[in-house]
Amino acid sequence: MSERPNGAVEFEVDGRKQRVADDPETPLLWVLRDRLGIVSPKYGCGMGVCGACTLLEGDRTVRSCTLPLRLAAGRSFTTLEGLAPKALHPVQRAWLETDVSQCGYCQGGMILEAVALLARSPQPTDEEIDTGLYGVLCRCGTYARVKRAVRRAAEIAAVERAQERSTERSGS
Ligand code: FES
Ligand code: FES
Repeated sequence: MSERPNGAVEFEVDGRKQRVADDPETPLLWVLRDRLGIVSPKYGCGMGVCGACTLLEGDRTVRSCTLPLRLAAGRSFTTLEGLAPKALHPVQRAWLETDVSQCGYCQGGMILEAVALLARSPQPTDEEIDTGLYGVLCRCGTYARVKRAVRRAAEIAAVERAQERSTERSGS
């Protein structure tokens, strides 16, 4: 996957290879929404400060509104749509249990930031949660419920890891 001589840029989204020929300076957010029909990343500020356009890349997040198409070459991103194709991710389950969402506009960014945080720190402290999700703005003020949901997601994920270990032991 790379930038091709004819200007087409190759990258991966939600496990699918994409090849897009467009102005290399076009923000990836527009490519996702208008060319590829992936609409969970939202437009908020267009300046990298609100988090509505967040994508997951490994255990980090990126703001797709400020990422030009040319810099997406060879990279692999996950959107909310592709986060857990078979069953809900522990973070999504915790979000539902905690009834976090209000209007929902910021929530894709919140959830992907939470997934990234838990990948880096499976049992985050309150400070780590505050720092990890600091970059996503919520006009509906869901911050307290977000924090509860991240703690709950950490519990759910820990139980799942223990169950997996026990299944592996009994199968070996
Ligand atoms: S729209 Fe990208 S950070 Fe606000
Ligand atoms: S739930 Fe409305 S902006 Fe966050």
